[in-house]
Amino acid sequence: MQRRRFLKWGLVGASAAIAPRCAQRPWLGQLNTGNAGNAMDATPPVYQSQGGLLEATLQARPQSVQLGDRPASLLTYNGQIPGPRLEARPGDTVRLQFDNQLAQPTNLHYHGLHIPPTGTGDNVFLKIPPGERHQYEFQIPTDHPAGTFWYHPHLHGLVAEQLFGGLAGLFVVRGTLDEIPEIQAAQEAFMVLKDFALTGNGAIPDPGHMAQMTGRVGDLLTVNGQFNPQVEIAPGGLLRLRFLNASSSRFFALSLEDHPLHLIATDGGAIAAPVELAELVLAPGERAEVLVRGDQSPGAYRLLNRAFNPAQGMMGGLGRGPGMMGGMGRGPGMMGGPETPGNANPPGRREAGLEAIATVVYEGDRQDTPLPSQLIAVDPLPEPQQVRQFTLNHGMGGGMGMGGGMTFLINGQPFAHDRIDTQVALNTVEEWEIINTGMMAHPFHVHTNKFQIITRNGEPEPYRAWRDIVNVAPGETARIRMAFRNYPGNTVYHCHILDHEDRGMMGTLQIQA
Ligand code: C2O
Ligand code: CU
Ligand code: CU
Repeated sequence: MQRRRFLKWGLVGASAAIAPRCAQRPWLGQLNTGNAGNAMDATPPVYQSQGGLLEATLQARPQSVQLGDRPASLLTYNGQIPGPRLEARPGDTVRLQFDNQLAQPTNLHYHGLHIPPTGTGDNVFLKIPPGERHQYEFQIPTDHPAGTFWYHPHLHGLVAEQLFGGLAGLFVVRGTLDEIPEIQAAQEAFMVLKDFALTGNGAIPDPGHMAQMTGRVGDLLTVNGQFNPQVEIAPGGLLRLRFLNASSSRFFALSLEDHPLHLIATDGGAIAAPVELAELVLAPGERAEVLVRGDQSPGAYRLLNRAFNPAQGMMGGLGRGPGMMGGMGRGPGMMGGPETPGNANPPGRREAGLEAIATVVYEGDRQDTPLPSQLIAVDPLPEPQQVRQFTLNHGMGGGMGMGGGMTFLINGQPFAHDRIDTQVALNTVEEWEIINTGMMAHPFHVHTNKFQIITRNGEPEPYRAWRDIVNVAPGETARIRMAFRNYPGNTVYHCHILDHEDRGMMGTLQIQA
């Protein structure tokens, strides 16, 4: 019933280089056309820059696709789940023709990219009506770090619905990290993690009341739009897994049977040296890259996701430190049950809250690649000129045309289009204390500039890393430090549980020249 498919699209680098810029495959109406033997059917196109220019057309449209072995009516970019992968290099110009064929207005956000938040750049204040087009054009700065970024809709009020419908794709910046010899030698696989819910007809069910609290979640866990795909690792070789949690609300807690994960990059790119993790926790929107060493007996090993309740089960985003395990010391109850009521999965897919979402299979000739010992330095940021507080909580009562129910607040206020919440000066450094006084976890995200987490509940972070999301558990305070570089203009910060964002947990940040 559950067809294993080879996950080839992480491995397309070589052939993509032959035909950069254009679609590597013609746009497929569907993924996984049911031909289990033909792995390339699952390969979505990759658009790579050529001669300093990345050009592509992205059409947002409803489409019938195959989600694994299930027919589904989803929202797609170019008919693909996930959307096409875009790849560029520091200094490149990006020109995207965006065509909105949805029944709703939408726009595009380039999550994690350090580009202008205004004009034809990463402008989330744009509203592109149904049937209309917009040309996005921006330059990736020449000193932009290499890393795993992504694009998704960002029209306030509709973000959760459109993302949960399937709209998301990777935006990869290639650079120095990719040139480290051990990393170059590693097999690369992109892993877009996304939960879906489907009715018997393959439609997306009404999120109902659940979405007001936890945010909408689904029981179908996919990797690149597939159920339990296979990824190959060479015996003795390295596998580089590049994860994106593209879910609207679901956290992932990942481990690989018999293999530790060696963290090499977080949201904003490389860390200084690999950090060994027993479990990798990814809040919605977070990315992480890990290396796996093929040093076990050849065979098949399950990549497991542990279901847990983020409000109880975790004290931070990913990587609390070397060897962290399980619920990270939050006390009893933290192992939690499945966070979603009901279980739409076929029997046998879950055991004790663990579910295999992919399988790593030893395959090919023996290699002997060691782990890299050094990656890329993460320089500390200078002392802040300003400290601010952001208190996250929720309240009752609709407002903002949400028709009642719960609202989510930052410093007591829901988002308002016509209000500037925070003004900062370009080329300054600030520390922000993110204080969660509510009952739910809130992965706090800032656009345009990346940050470093300094402390959580007063405890210093075990290692420095560039991030754009910090998960803040109930009762927790996270202190982050950020420099406002290069781009003045209005941008936003918000909770990346997108139902919370749509229900008010967002603020406008004005960066003044
Ligand atoms: Cu991925 Cu404003 O977010
Ligand atoms: Cu973002
Ligand atoms: Cu939230």
